[in-house]
Amino acid sequence: ILLMVATAATAYLLGSISFAVIISKALAHKDVREVGSGNAGMTNVFRSFGKLPGILTLLGDFSKGIISVIIGRLVFEYLLGLNPLYGAYVAGLFAILGHIFPLYFHFKGGKGVLTTAGMALVLDYRIFIITIGIFLLIILITRMVSVGSIIAAIAYPITTYTVYTVTGQPALVGTVITACIAALLIYMHRTNIKRILNGTESKIGSKKKNNP
Ligand code: G3P
Repeated sequence: ILLMVATAATAYLLGSISFAVIISKALAHKDVREVGSGNAGMTNVFRSFGKLPGILTLLGDFSKGIISVIIGRLVFEYLLGLNPLYGAYVAGLFAILGHIFPLYFHFKGGKGVLTTAGMALVLDYRIFIITIGIFLLIILITRMVSVGSIIAAIAYPITTYTVYTVTGQPALVGTVITACIAALLIYMHRTNIKRILNGTESKIGSKKKNNP
């Protein structure tokens, strides 16, 4: 039990490292949560501060998802003798929660998309590739990262169920967990959804900025 709690805590603390906030403060001397959409995520760093800070945020937030899930797998498999998949789910979930509610940054973080992508990659690269493909395709069509995130969040549990079923693996737990994560990600995009519906959501390449 102690090791399980330690795994969750480690993932939460890793997830809490908001690269969007750290990098925007370091490179642009501003808090990304006070500009653009107000979100501490890669999209808003790109939008507000440009390519290099955006790419660094992408690498940081993606990596922390990957590292947390690898730690979760290793602890469950080698220290607890349990199914590593459960370690991955626990660590992934807590890393995402850390990203959204970061301990070090007044619990105001991002929306969890990249951290989930890191988790998805370690769990099953095929599911990752399909979901990222959908994400990029939707962004290409709509030029709205939020729409890509929301559709990819919906696609994630569906892809998980399909890939696991087609490859003869048990699909129930994975589908339920990824569906919960999808629900959380969509909830985090609630202000984006309002903006999408009334046509004020920021598009890639357009200069218009929203208020937080
Ligand atoms: O991952 C966040 C993205 O989907 C939307 O970000 O800054 O447009 O709210 P933002």
